Amino acid sequence: MKKITKAVIPAAGLGTRMLPISRTVPKEILPIVDRPSMEYLVREAVDSGIKDILIITGRNKEAIENYFDYSVEYKDLLQVKGKQKELDDMRQVCSLANIYFLRQKEAKGLGHAVLCAEKFVGDEPFAVLYGDDVMVAEKPVTKQLCEAYEKYGKTVVGVSRVPWKDVKKYCSMKTEKQLEERAYLTTDMVEKPQTKEEMFSNLSILGRVVLTPDIFEVLKHTENGAGGELQLTDAMKQLARTEGVISYEYEGKRYDMGSKLGFLQANIEQALLHPDLKDAFREYLIQLSKTL
Ligand code: UTP
Repeated sequence: MKKITKAVIPAAGLGTRMLPISRTVPKEILPIVDRPSMEYLVREAVDSGIKDILIITGRNKEAIENYFDYSVEYKDLLQVKGKQKELDDMRQVCSLANIYFLRQKEAKGLGHAVLCAEKFVGDEPFAVLYGDDVMVAEKPVTKQLCEAYEKYGKTVVGVSRVPWKDVKKYCSMKTEKQLEERAYLTTDMVEKPQTKEEMFSNLSILGRVVLTPDIFEVLKHTENGAGGELQLTDAMKQLARTEGVISYEYEGKRYDMGSKLGFLQANIEQALLHPDLKDAFREYLIQLSKTL
C-alpha cells in the first residue's frame, strides 16, 4: 500500500467559539504555553513521516505563515544577545517540513477546505489534521492512522469514545465489525444525531482522518449540509455507505483548541510538563487550589 507523504491542515475557519480573540488572532496560532498549536500539528505530521504539508488559510490568518518564516530581525538580535538556544529553535521550526499555504477564499466548510487541496494532493492518499485539534500521544495519532491505512487500504477516520450525552454534538459511527483491538469496519455514520434512536454508537470522528483521492469526486457531488457549509463528514458518510471506511480508535489526548475550555486545559496540563516552568507552576496551582 502507498505510504502517506502529504498532509492537509485546514485552518481557515472563522472560529466563532473563540470570539472575540479569533477576530484578530487565528485560533490555530493560539499558544500552548509558548508554542502555537499549529507547531504541534506540523510536528505531528513530521513525526508521522510526512514532509509535504499544505495549510489552508484565509483572511486574517497571516500569523500562521509568519510563524514558520525565518526572521532575519530575530536572527540578528538573538546572535547579539548570545541566545543560541532560541536561535537554534527558530532555525529548527523553520525547517521542519515543506510547508505550503493556500487561501480558502470563503469559509464554506471543512469539506470545501479539503476540496481546495485537490491539486496539491493529486492522486495519492493523504492525511487531514483538523487545524484546531491538538493531539498529544506517545505514537503520533496521524502515524497510528497512516499505519491503519497501510494495513487496510481504505479511508481511515480517527475516532474516540465520547460521553453518550455529548454524542449529539459530534457524529456517531455505525461499526459493522471489529477488525482488531482498535479498528472497526464502518458502513454508516450520522452527524449530530439528536435522539438516542438515531445514534449508532458513541464513537465519534475527532480531529484526524486519512483519505483517498476518491474523496474529491464525492465532495464535488455533496450538497451543503449543517450550517449551509460543505461538510467533510457528509462526504465520508457516502464513502462509508458505498465502500466502507475504517474507524480507528486512536490512543492519545485531544485538546480542542477551538473551544475556550480546551484551550485552558491544554495550557494547564502542558505547563505542568514544561521543563522550565513545571515546578513553579505546580506550586502555584497547589496554592491556588486551596482557595477554590
Ligand atoms: P471547525 O468547525 O472547528 O472550525 O473546523 P470553525 O468553523 O472555525 O469553528 P467555530 O465552530 O466557528 O468555532 C475544524 C477545522 O477546520 C477549519 C477550521 O479552521 C478548523 O481548524 N475550517 C473550517 C476551514 O479551514 N474552513 C472552513 O470553512 C471551516
